[in-house]
Amino acid sequence: MSDLSAPPSAESARPGPLRLTAYAGEQVLWLVPLLLGLVLFVVGGVLAIIWVGIALVLGGLLVVRGIADRQRRIAGRVLGIDVPSPYRPAPPGGPLVRLWSMIGDPMTWRDLGWLLWAITAGWVISLLVVVLMVAVATLFFWWFGTPHLMAVRSRVDLTFLTYGATERLEQRVAALTRSRAEAVDHSAAELRRLERDLHDGTQARLVAVSMSLGMAEAQFEDDPEAARRTVSEAREATSAAIADLRSVVRGIHPPVLADRGLDGAVRALALDMAVPVEVSGGLSGRLPLPIESAVYFAVAECLANAAKHAGHEHAWVELGHRDGVLRVVVGDDGRGGADPDAGTGMRGVMRRLAAFDGTMAVSSPAGGPTVVTLEVPCALSDPHDSSSPRTTPSSAPA
Ligand SMILES: Nc1ncnc2c1ncn2[C@@H]1O[C@H](COP(=O)(O)OP(=O)(O)OP(=O)(O)O)[C@@H](O)[C@H]1O
Ligand SMILES: [Mg+2]
Repeated sequence: MSDLSAPPSAESARPGPLRLTAYAGEQVLWLVPLLLGLVLFVVGGVLAIIWVGIALVLGGLLVVRGIADRQRRIAGRVLGIDVPSPYRPAPPGGPLVRLWSMIGDPMTWRDLGWLLWAITAGWVISLLVVVLMVAVATLFFWWFGTPHLMAVRSRVDLTFLTYGATERLEQRVAALTRSRAEAVDHSAAELRRLERDLHDGTQARLVAVSMSLGMAEAQFEDDPEAARRTVSEAREATSAAIADLRSVVRGIHPPVLADRGLDGAVRALALDMAVPVEVSGGLSGRLPLPIESAVYFAVAECLANAAKHAGHEHAWVELGHRDGVLRVVVGDDGRGGADPDAGTGMRGVMRRLAAFDGTMAVSSPAGGPTVVTLEVPCALSDPHDSSSPRTTPSSAPA
């Protein structure tokens, strides 16, 4: 059974009998396209061994899905709750890939179950509402009965069209398992990167210092002048090693982030960009350290992408924290066409954020603009309260 206990989002805007009857009328008219969708699905299924069958099944499913989504919105309005569209995102690819993904989506089968209800008992309820209105003798029943009839219909609709509590928990466990595996992968890759940076940079320079000092030791007796020069070279190599180490440390947790928090660090990042970046909004407190750092590097990657790929004239960053969610939007007015599957940068950001239950949504139509939205559920701590738990991210409610 679906969990329909969500708080009413717009109690005052609940539709009255007239609007409800308009919805009922719409539902009555759906009989034809729903029957068509069913026929396409069944006939296509029989002919599935040839291409036209596959196209028919896909067409039928898309018709049903479109109407089912409309019914979710109507039922949401009738009951005063938010009903998000629960489908899996369509993968890139042709009709066969699309169809395969739809068949693997449990909501597709729930849609078909709903269809059987919507063309039988559900249809009769909607028809009753319309019929009650058109006869003067039944207007009294129409006025008082319509909200109840439509509430019953909407509840049954949502039983089919939304996941129940158990299914949502199962999906959440699957998502957490996936993000945990990605977080482990990401940490291993980060460790390998640090190892390479230390090995190729700092360690190589320290080896050179050690060799120079060994040489100087041998030179001291015979040629003190040459020994002094070698020591001086060794000192320079030490400075280079320190600079290398600094950049490694900066790559782990940039000092500007530690000093000024995400807000200040993003502003500093924006100032360093060649093309103007406008930073708006702000944060009234500090974030948990790992989230601060993950989001900082995410913004840095988005701005670097804009500089590398967008050919833009203007970029912007909006920072905000509302209802327990940090939301950062990075946009540019460049040519668009950003595709996380075409590189490693954005996918890396997604994996890193997923470890905190965070998401990265990319909207980048050809011609632009590119808008990347980063969202991470987390608590803000008082910037003056040093006892606040900044090392442990708060997790989202299940
Ligand atoms: N702001 C943008 N405007 C236009 N195209 C973009 C933008 N950001 C990314 N892209 C496109 O999306 C692709 C993927 O970006 P991604 O950051 O994942 O990889 P990358 O920048 O090419 O390489 P790297 O792994 O070094 O980040 C890019 O190759 C580029 O074609
Ligand atoms: Mg990139």
